[in-house]
Amino acid sequence: MSIDYSEKIPNNVDLAGDRKLQRALESWQPNFLNWWKTMGPALPTEDVYLRTAVDVGREGWAHFGHVAMEEYRWGVFLAERNHDRRIAFGERRGEPVWQQVPGEYRADLQRLIVIQGDTEPASVEQQRRLGETAPSLYDLRNLFQVNVEEGRHLWAMVYLLHAYFGRTGRTEAEALLQRNSGDLDSPRMLGAFNEETPDWLSFFMFTYFTDRDGKYQLGSLKESAFDPLSRTCEFMLKEEAHHMFVGTTGVDRVVARTAELTREHDSEDIAAHGGIPLDVIQKYINFHYSVSLDLFGSERSTNAANYFTAGLKGRWQEERRDDDHTLTEDAAEVAVVRDGAITTDEVSALLALNHDLRSEYVKDCQSGMKRWNRILERAGMDRRLSLPHVGFNRQVGEFAGHNVTPAGDLVGADAWNAKRDAWLPTEADKAHVRSLMRPVYEPGKIASWVSPPNTGINNKPIDYEYVHLP
Ligand SMILES: [Fe+2]
Ligand SMILES: [Fe+2]
Repeated sequence: MSIDYSEKIPNNVDLAGDRKLQRALESWQPNFLNWWKTMGPALPTEDVYLRTAVDVGREGWAHFGHVAMEEYRWGVFLAERNHDRRIAFGERRGEPVWQQVPGEYRADLQRLIVIQGDTEPASVEQQRRLGETAPSLYDLRNLFQVNVEEGRHLWAMVYLLHAYFGRTGRTEAEALLQRNSGDLDSPRMLGAFNEETPDWLSFFMFTYFTDRDGKYQLGSLKESAFDPLSRTCEFMLKEEAHHMFVGTTGVDRVVARTAELTREHDSEDIAAHGGIPLDVIQKYINFHYSVSLDLFGSERSTNAANYFTAGLKGRWQEERRDDDHTLTEDAAEVAVVRDGAITTDEVSALLALNHDLRSEYVKDCQSGMKRWNRILERAGMDRRLSLPHVGFNRQVGEFAGHNVTPAGDLVGADAWNAKRDAWLPTEADKAHVRSLMRPVYEPGKIASWVSPPNTGINNKPIDYEYVHLP
């Protein structure tokens, strides 16, 4: 299963054994590189200390070294095949998994792959200019690591489209480079991926909340009966873990610095002292969490039910669930808005699968609050951070069109709008955060608004030259 780097496209899927597929992907490659040059990181660099996958095994799958970013070896890496793997859920539970796409599920599977594929390059586009204001070389390197891996995740989805979906797959692969984040005429498919990531607090929030949505989507696709999709997602999840590490520790460091400045100046108004006030951090949490919740779709979804029954998309950790894995007899509670109040409805568990995945995600997001509040507590601060109610600021699903406060109260539009500036980042908040974004490119130095990291990358010191600038 080790990766062949002698090929034009590094891979562990024996591309050389399928000349037609190899040629098709080789003709997509220049388009990808052109997209990377025009829509990828804007800051010119000489080289960056990056991790490259060299194997997909449990131990030592990555190699670290300085590489020129445009020479990064993007490729196609699938986790090892389990020859005994069987479908774990749905009406075909117990049957062998599929190595090819069954005709009746072709359209649905292609759609799931395209939607996942669309998010990968989108985030690179959103983060395009962040290198120009990196708070340290360490952070700059982490940004670029996330970017090259999102590029690789695009390769992962494009491989599936080319290898298993014929001409329509190739057309969809082209379209993945033609839509662009925030583009008025051809935007990315999902709302959160058309939002801006204009500053590093947004970047840390994005990698905490939005990459974490990715973790849950990939986790449910990893359960798929379509084995190549499952194996692709399994390996993507390994890379994804670093993206969330960047978000988690990034917010840790902002909160730590905010606490430090608040104590030092004995005031929560630390804007003038080069810090980000805690209430601004809370507003960024409110925003990024709510737009990420939208990515899970409607609480009640017949599509989700059909995908599950057919074996296309499972639940988070499907095999650890203690039930019959078909859910035909089961019920679930979902929150609904009825007669001017938030209440719950009992629905078929199959219809509530988006809600199920979202609930797992919400639990996971809580862990961030815990750790950030521990930082505040240790710093002797009384204030705490929290997740807003799931109905707050939603554009998709049951709560769309309703005015829910962060505390979970249903209020009128006027009451909600009157408090909007206390709940979501205002233009002034964003302008302040942006005003702090000045690049710090000296090894070991750090911007005013964030604490230094605890450790470096791959046992390198914090003042290591992670990035060489021209
Ligand atoms: Fe990704
Ligand atoms: Fe990611």
